[in-house]
Amino acid sequence: MSIKVYVTDREGVLHELEAEPGWTLMEVIREAGLPIEAACGGCCACATCHVYVDLEWFAKLPEPSEDENAMLDEAFEVRETSRLACQIRLGPSLSGIRVTLAPEF
Ligand code: FES
Repeated sequence: MSIKVYVTDREGVLHELEAEPGWTLMEVIREAGLPIEAACGGCCACATCHVYVDLEWFAKLPEPSEDENAMLDEAFEVRETSRLACQIRLGPSLSGIRVTLAPEF
């Protein structure tokens, strides 16, 4: 069963993407060719996969790890609903998740 992911890019354009269970949100965004740098390849070491998660979905995500929080502490333009997309593993319960790409620096 594929999982729907809705991503708003930095120009405000909404993209409807599909993912397989087990992919990370970063992988889905990158595979779709959207501009997410993901410089560390998903090792939670760069924060260039920073996204803002819609509040409704933010509440459904597992708590961030200490490593993710440490990276977010050093990221720019962090908001209450900031997460690192490489740390969000998709499953059926997250189908329909909505996120917005954070600004690039
Ligand atoms: S890709 Fe580097 S922290 Fe997510």
